[in-house]
Amino acid sequence: MDELIVSMEHICKQFPGVKALDDVRFELRKGEVMALLGENGAGKSTLMKILSGVYTRDSGDLTIMGKSYGDLDPKSARAAGVAIIHQELNMCRHLSVAENMFLGREIKGSITLNNKEMKKIAREYLDELGVDISTDQIVGDLPVSKQQMIEIAKALSVNAKILIMDEPTSALTARECEELFRIIRQLKDRGCGIVYISHRLEELSHITDRVTIMRDGKYITQGNFTDFSMDDIISNMVGREIKEKFPRIECPKGKKIFEVKNLNAGRLVRDINFSLYEGEIVGFAGLMGAGRTETTRAVFGIDPKESGTIELNGKEVVINRPMDAIKAGIVLAPEDRKKDGLCTKLSVRQNIALPNLDMLCNGLGVVDSKKEVELCDKAVDNLMIKLPSVDVNADTLSGGNQQKVVVGKWLARDSKVVIFDEPTRGIDVGAKVEIYRLMNQLKEQGIAVMFVSSEMPEILGIADRVIVMCDGRITGEVQAKGATQEELLKLATAFENKFKEEEKGAEVKANE
Ligand SMILES: Nc1ncnc2c1ncn2[C@@H]1O[C@H](COP(=O)(O)OP(=O)(O)OP(=O)(O)O)[C@@H](O)[C@H]1O
Ligand SMILES: [Mg+2]
Repeated sequence: MDELIVSMEHICKQFPGVKALDDVRFELRKGEVMALLGENGAGKSTLMKILSGVYTRDSGDLTIMGKSYGDLDPKSARAAGVAIIHQELNMCRHLSVAENMFLGREIKGSITLNNKEMKKIAREYLDELGVDISTDQIVGDLPVSKQQMIEIAKALSVNAKILIMDEPTSALTARECEELFRIIRQLKDRGCGIVYISHRLEELSHITDRVTIMRDGKYITQGNFTDFSMDDIISNMVGREIKEKFPRIECPKGKKIFEVKNLNAGRLVRDINFSLYEGEIVGFAGLMGAGRTETTRAVFGIDPKESGTIELNGKEVVINRPMDAIKAGIVLAPEDRKKDGLCTKLSVRQNIALPNLDMLCNGLGVVDSKKEVELCDKAVDNLMIKLPSVDVNADTLSGGNQQKVVVGKWLARDSKVVIFDEPTRGIDVGAKVEIYRLMNQLKEQGIAVMFVSSEMPEILGIADRVIVMCDGRITGEVQAKGATQEELLKLATAFENKFKEEEKGAEVKANE
């Protein structure tokens, strides 16, 4: 149990303008779960990318399974038993599940690839995880949660001794998390050492043996998980105390701004009716797959509507594509930031400017660069986005800071309705509070805020009113104050319960 399988000492890594790692140490023992914690941009992913050979370090010592490594490339890291599930999923979206699982280590037949064998093995690992997806399914068509499960199955299939999970649960449902924890325990029993990175601190107690805490590219401390209180962990991560996790503000509820009537769009958006008022945040709770994201997509004009109307200040607006929504003052910060929220190969400045070009261009259609810089600086300052300059590519930012850019680009617009879909996913405790404050700021300005989240505590802590969805329908609405998680969960599983009761009823009848 105590055998050291990874030891990293004095690790340094410099990126242009950022010292990402400064004399960092890290160790991992056989059969343990080591939680690696720190704020967005602390250097967690960078450190783990060094361990898995994705990045080369500038200096420092690295030992895996007692063997010392100089430069380590991904292939030798894999041979040493290291597997990594990246934070921003790295899958080939146009390939199938089986093809993704065997990418770079395909099984060859006599002439062509042995697809049958690859599918069979992929199936076994997916079944072990209890994942019900066809191995032929194209990965890009799957929701993030399923893609994540495939990454985990892939890591299992290479028989990793050291498994790094960078934010594995950020898109999983409570049930999928349970399943993942079960698998983690199973891997531990097999002697696998697991590095677990997560901003969902409340889940750590299920699996964590030890913690390593980093801040601003530096090693801060490590120790047994049980020797730390949650406040200790947070203050070591953030370097200060966080007094209010959910800084709710009270605003008088104003007039109705926005109304969705009888909206239907596919299986997961059935007969949706709701209104948003000035000065309130409306939370949309539910389990993954309840249809909340699909509702935001239909409202925003990404997916076609079968029927239904949308009214803004009492007047109908026709939204057939996102530009119609943006022009009307309805904006969306989507769930999957890498795919829908950002152009990762463009700079932060370009990302922020892009949806705002109508405001930034002069009469000749040329971008006014002074205005552009002003607009970016405002977004960066407002959200305290951590970056060396606004001209770096969006994909060089840490996950949490990428999310802030997605939100930041809408700040410049005179929006009337702002829709946030899981805005705090992968965001550290301190930055979460900043996002809540941002929502509060919008609420104070009379903007209607629609806030989709799978984290019930934050919905109850920040929203004024909560609408709950289950299986494409609204199953209830409650005032957040005084409501409980159990109440929300009951509404979120309304059909499941009904179905179970019906089943039970049928069983009883059959037995009679
Ligand atoms: N490829 C890169 N090029 C330039 N800078 C980078 C690159 N990768 C990371 N950085 C910078 O290094 C620092 C550490 O980033 P890292 O992604 O390791 O943080 P993190 O702790 O994983 O944060 P998060 O919790 O948000 O994922 C950040 O300032 C980031 O902008
Ligand atoms: Mg990271």
